[in-house]
Amino acid sequence: MKTLTLLITLLLTGLSSNAALASGQERAPDLANGEKLVSQNCTRCHDDSVYTRPNRRVKTLPGLGKQVRFCKDTIGITWFDDEVNDVVYFLNDKYYHF
Ligand code: HEC
Repeated sequence: MKTLTLLITLLLTGLSSNAALASGQERAPDLANGEKLVSQNCTRCHDDSVYTRPNRRVKTLPGLGKQVRFCKDTIGITWFDDEVNDVVYFLNDKYYHF
């Protein structure tokens, strides 16, 4: 029983520190990690030509964040906000330039 309580405590502590990260104390985006995440998860339905096509839909940085979240939710992957940020800033740096 003690062990269980300890486990739960550890789990909750872990979760709340992630919540702290999500609420504004994010680290600087890691573009290389963003590139890796995109190449591992994001090439099944479209390649990188969607990011550069003339009629591309994403027009703003927040819009890019929204689209990345939408696409990742479609395939059911879970990323921390930091990882979403890495991907957004990688795509922005390489393709969108907002
Ligand atoms: C299940 C299929 C699928 C996967 C996997 C997928 N996407 Fe998409 N994505 C789409 C579709 C569909 C569109 C919209 C294409 C269109 O409008 O013609 C799109 C469009 C986009 C756009 C907008 C392009 C524009 O027009 O500016 C971005 C950015 C994007 N995806 C990022 C990602 C990222 C990042 C991942 C990996 C997490 C990902 N996608 C994985 C289906 C997918």
